[in-house]
Amino acid sequence: MIIFYNFINFRLEYTKISSKDYHLISIDLIKTDAIIEELNKLKIDYSIPTILIAECFLVYLTRKVTMNILNVFTSNFKNLIFTFYDLINPHDPFGQEMLDNLRQRNIKLNGIEETDSIDKQITRLKDCGFLEYEVHDMVDFYNHFIDNSEKKKIEKLELFDEFEEWNLLQSHSCYGLGIKLEKDYEFLYSIKFKKY
Ligand SMILES: C[S@@+](CC[C@H](N)C(=O)[O-])C[C@H]1O[C@@H](n2cnc3c(N)ncnc32)[C@H](O)[C@@H]1O
Repeated sequence: MIIFYNFINFRLEYTKISSKDYHLISIDLIKTDAIIEELNKLKIDYSIPTILIAECFLVYLTRKVTMNILNVFTSNFKNLIFTFYDLINPHDPFGQEMLDNLRQRNIKLNGIEETDSIDKQITRLKDCGFLEYEVHDMVDFYNHFIDNSEKKKIEKLELFDEFEEWNLLQSHSCYGLGIKLEKDYEFLYSIKFKKY
């Protein structure tokens, strides 16, 4: 909701959309107390298996802040499947150019140094209480975790023969999974990525 005070200043209120079985809330996730406050208002059942998705979000915040956020979820949700996409590998020339381009648009990736590798991404998952975890850079993921028929389909969508550039780009991002389940839902560990 946008409230116009006058022609120059305006305030952007946090958006909320609610229906019987769908809720969309926007909050500043740095304010971790607000996360549970908002979820409690919705009478969330913390025992139901829940999927948490973060697509290119964690890298904007320091490791400490992302740990606080993830800990809120792992300590409250009894059965949590967390999947995320993130940027890594900032130190080579491509990574430096990626950061420069973002800097020119005033975008700072506050967490990229502290979680710049697959190992560090995995350590964060472990440190936040996930019991099973895996993280792959997107080259590895594309080459080994997508079945060939799907890849053929993707590669037909448009001319796709610049594999060197593709691999360079994809080696700067990763895809991961952290899972924490109670005994009754342990069968959901099978959701882990399937190798082809
Ligand atoms: C690269 S975008 C990800 C886009 C998103 N996956 C999508 O498809 O719209 C990074 C997002 O992180 C959000 N973000 C950054 N810091 C945040 C914070 N403290 N609380 C909530 N969201 C934040 C930004 O608003 C932005 O939408």
